Amino acid sequence: MGKYMLVSNANQVVTMAGHTNKPATKEAMTQLRIIENGSIWIEDGKVVEVGKDQEIRNKYKHELSKATVINAKGKTVTPGLIDPHTHLVHAGTRENEYAMRLKGKTYMEIMEAGGGIHATTRATQQASYEQLFEESRKRLNQFLLYGVTTVEAKSGYGLTLEDELKQLEVADRLQHEHPIDVVSTFMGAHAVPLNQKDNPDDFVERVVNEMIPEVARRKLAKFNDVFCERGVFTPEQSRKILEAGKAHGLIPKIHADEIEPYGGAELAAEVGAISADHLLRASDEGIAAMAKAGVMGVLLPGTAFFLMAEFAQARKMIDAGVAVALSTDANPGSSPSLSLPFIMNLGCLKMGMTPEEVLTATTINAAHAIGCANEAGSLEAGKKADITIFNVPNYLMLSYQYGMNHVDTVVKAGKQLVE
Ligand code: NIG
Ligand code: FE
Repeated sequence: MGKYMLVSNANQVVTMAGHTNKPATKEAMTQLRIIENGSIWIEDGKVVEVGKDQEIRNKYKHELSKATVINAKGKTVTPGLIDPHTHLVHAGTRENEYAMRLKGKTYMEIMEAGGGIHATTRATQQASYEQLFEESRKRLNQFLLYGVTTVEAKSGYGLTLEDELKQLEVADRLQHEHPIDVVSTFMGAHAVPLNQKDNPDDFVERVVNEMIPEVARRKLAKFNDVFCERGVFTPEQSRKILEAGKAHGLIPKIHADEIEPYGGAELAAEVGAISADHLLRASDEGIAAMAKAGVMGVLLPGTAFFLMAEFAQARKMIDAGVAVALSTDANPGSSPSLSLPFIMNLGCLKMGMTPEEVLTATTINAAHAIGCANEAGSLEAGKKADITIFNVPNYLMLSYQYGMNHVDTVVKAGKQLVE
């Protein structure tokens, strides 16, 4: 890799500048800070300056002959997209359950009958480390083709210490070997294993006393997540698990109010979670509590779409002052998709968000939701040169044409990856 790179003369450079210190809320979610005919000067994999093409070319004219130049004329450039909630590391698919749901079975009925998360847990437990690595690596390649340069990845299909560690070790190896940045979350409390379903509190004890300390000791995760839902983990059990994580330095996240209102948003505010995710059925009180406590809402409209459920009330949340991010929730049961651009379409068409808000929600706010806003999420001096170039003339096109892939080129830490 050469030292210098110029992304040159884009129709629009969406910088997202100015939101690094705190997540964007309300009107700030519409401030994209666009530079027309913009260029980005990059040195050693980091952004040095973003400005008008002529100005950048003049200022760096002595180094220009040594630079790799990417011509972005007529195109739209954004910070590399960030997916802040995925179940990346898992084995297999569940198309049979999809067919069952199309005939009227519900997601929870399938899980209660031993399918759902349990089905993927069986497959993941049986898969070797190498198999799991290979499947997950292919998914990351797909993410990259859709313009994503950072993903969060949860464990939670192991449900034993050994198998949870296997998932987290795969994520760790991907973080080192794949160009995409992978940020790990421990989610041992994704389901109560079938063989312990009569003693869920014993399993909670195991998560708290065995799994969390070991995951923290090995530094295999930054966050600790729990599926707080009727029939899975109660708010009391969830609180216990999230507090235990905090005591070991793991930042709380929560799958909240996905299927029914269950006090998940309220709990997120009480424990000081960095984000509450899903929130399809979050209460008004829960939304207000999140806004007050500064808990981000990570919304996953692909899940509502695929489960044929009501969408989260993004408009209400943003208006209430909740900082919203968007994500695929990529997983084999409730959202089998790796397309963050499609999620942007759904954000606009199904949740009342504006094209500006969905871009904020998949860049700088997504970075905040996984604690990496200092390095990624915007195109500003000092940040990683994580850049997605779309073959469209303006950012509105991104959430207008749907089910299409407009990605032209991806630059990750100053390296051109997709051409
Ligand atoms: O975020 N809700 C819990 N976990 C995932 C689904 C996991 C699965 O069905 O395999 C979710 O929707
Ligand atoms: Fe999820």
